[in-house]
Amino acid sequence: MRSAKQRVALVSGANRGIGLAIAEQLARKGLKVIIGARNERSGLEAQKRLVTRGLDVYFTLLDVADTASIMAAVGRVSDTFGRLDILVNNAGIMIDHKTTILDLPLDLLQSTLATNALGPLLLSQGFVPLMCKHQYGRIVNISSSLGSLSDIVDPASDYTRLRSPAYRLSKTFLNGITALLARELREQNILVNAVCPGWVRTNLGGPEAPVLPEQVTKTPVWLATLPDDGPTGGFFREQQPIPW
Ligand SMILES: NC(=O)c1ccc[n+]([C@@H]2O[C@H](COP(=O)([O-])OP(=O)(O)OC[C@H]3O[C@@H](n4cnc5c(N)ncnc54)[C@H](OP(=O)(O)O)[C@@H]3O)[C@@H](O)[C@H]2O)c1
Repeated sequence: MRSAKQRVALVSGANRGIGLAIAEQLARKGLKVIIGARNERSGLEAQKRLVTRGLDVYFTLLDVADTASIMAAVGRVSDTFGRLDILVNNAGIMIDHKTTILDLPLDLLQSTLATNALGPLLLSQGFVPLMCKHQYGRIVNISSSLGSLSDIVDPASDYTRLRSPAYRLSKTFLNGITALLARELREQNILVNAVCPGWVRTNLGGPEAPVLPEQVTKTPVWLATLPDDGPTGGFFREQQPIPW
């Protein structure tokens, strides 16, 4: 197995927000990091910013809601690097603040699921064979406590006033994908975990959120660089397991 220094990581939606902060911290650990972004200009700008800080960072065009774009990115990464060791499924949208489960339009649910859950599934399916080839893989799904069924049914939850049913369901779905992938890949040294970063000041989290993306990278980076005997099939926040 190659040393950690030669490992390659892909972070989806890494042109801004939490994804960009995770990409920077992984690169600071000596990894080759690929910024996946659907907007070429914004992705290249983010890459340039990190490269000027002396980091080994690349860019690939990646729209996680588009199967052809995912397949093309899998092919490019495979051809260019010959390996992918770490996949951080970070790209996400929340576009249903104003709906309830009772009036949730199907198209809104479908587009949220496509980005937040099906994209991560297709990326995982695309990259797992490459990970298996090197008997090493870490998949980190950036989820949310909003998708935790235990949290949804808890009347005392901090998030009880937030609706966003499509977003919540997409993260519940992503958590299910996490558990199923982990079960399937346990014997291959591919560890799969989900993480809630907390409420973070980004476009998605809004200006009221108490912390910046740079302050929440510790747990995703920990999960992305777990030792071989690290946890798999877990859901974490601040490095502690949280209920599904
Ligand atoms: N902020 C929070 O409080 C919070 C809490 C819990 C979980 N999360 C999760 O953290 C992750 C990152 O969110 P964030 O807060 O950093 O939000 P953000 O600043 O809005 O960033 C979202 C990122 O996802 C990208 N993206 C969206 N749809 C995409 C697609 N189809 N293909 C490729 N990239 C796409 C965006 O790209 P564009 O620039 O092209 O739009 C952007 O880079 C999400 O999965 C989110 O659900 C956030």
